[in-house]
Amino acid sequence: MKVLKARPITKERYKQLSEDILTLGITPSLTVVLIGEDPAASYYVQNLVKFGLKYGIEVNIAKYDTTITQAELLTLIEELNESKKCHGIMLQKPLPSHIDEDLIVNAISPNKDVDGFHPYNLGNLFMEQSNFVPCTPAAVLEMLEYYEIETSGKHIAIVGRSNIVGKPLANLFLRKNKTGNATVTVCHSRTTNLSEITRQADILVAAIGKANFIDSSMIKKGAVIIDVGINEVTLPDGKKTYVGDVAYDECSELSSAITPVPGGIGSLTTYNLLKNVYVAARLNNA
Ligand SMILES: NC(=O)c1ccc[n+]([C@@H]2O[C@H](COP(=O)([O-])OP(=O)(O)OC[C@H]3O[C@@H](n4cnc5c(N)ncnc54)[C@H](OP(=O)(O)O)[C@@H]3O)[C@@H](O)[C@H]2O)c1
Repeated sequence: MKVLKARPITKERYKQLSEDILTLGITPSLTVVLIGEDPAASYYVQNLVKFGLKYGIEVNIAKYDTTITQAELLTLIEELNESKKCHGIMLQKPLPSHIDEDLIVNAISPNKDVDGFHPYNLGNLFMEQSNFVPCTPAAVLEMLEYYEIETSGKHIAIVGRSNIVGKPLANLFLRKNKTGNATVTVCHSRTTNLSEITRQADILVAAIGKANFIDSSMIKKGAVIIDVGINEVTLPDGKKTYVGDVAYDECSELSSAITPVPGGIGSLTTYNLLKNVYVAARLNNA
């Protein structure tokens, strides 16, 4: 069984990214809109600042209290859209319940939509023309390509149909290219006989948001397992840690290859976000 670690990939990609940034002649700049005090969100954003600093990308945090109104948030997005100093905009989740996420995402300029969640960019993804591919689906493809895992003709089951992971990923796997040509089944909470489907998968992608949900009874022997999930769990000693959606120990024994959590898709996702900020800087500076 092979452990599909992100490190060898990110090591070479960050080096290339730093070199590409130097040729731009400007410092790519990302503004992260962070609302409230969610610890996981704050931790992730601080990490982005750290990584950005390391590789030559400025990461600014626009931090607001949960009392911010939708109108105020829309005004902020307008200002960021107009600003020559801001190349990329990222809306960090979770958002307060009174904020309409779709409305805010739709207000972000597609040229600054480094998450690739704007309908314009998702539509372009469908048409195979996109500037910004959502970072986690892109990470999954990069992982498979780097480790030379063939997708053509394979049955890929994706558990999870979110707009940010499952749906765009399913479309990417259907492309007529090197990381596509797969037969894709997308499963969700209303799927009946989930295990029967996952057990048929040559490649199983778990993007559910439930710790250790996929167990060994759901895996075909020799399958490749891509674990997108990041779930905070409390250990018996009270300490907090992060695990994926796949019960790693029991599933890895059956699989031919598996991504770890942490150190797998999450690390590559962060790289893709920063790479998209570079792409946005190039686009918005042209
Ligand atoms: N590695 C990264 O960088 C990265 C990036 C993004 C997300 N994530 C992680 O990936 C996970 C999924 O994120 P998300 O934003 O896609 O989550 P999400 O929007 O909550 O979607 C979860 C999906 O899982 C499905 N699901 C829930 N319970 C299920 C069940 N019992 N059986 C089958 N399907 C079930 C849901 O089905 P319904 O549609 O029917 O509700 C939904 O489609 C989370 O752990 C998140 O933290 C990681």
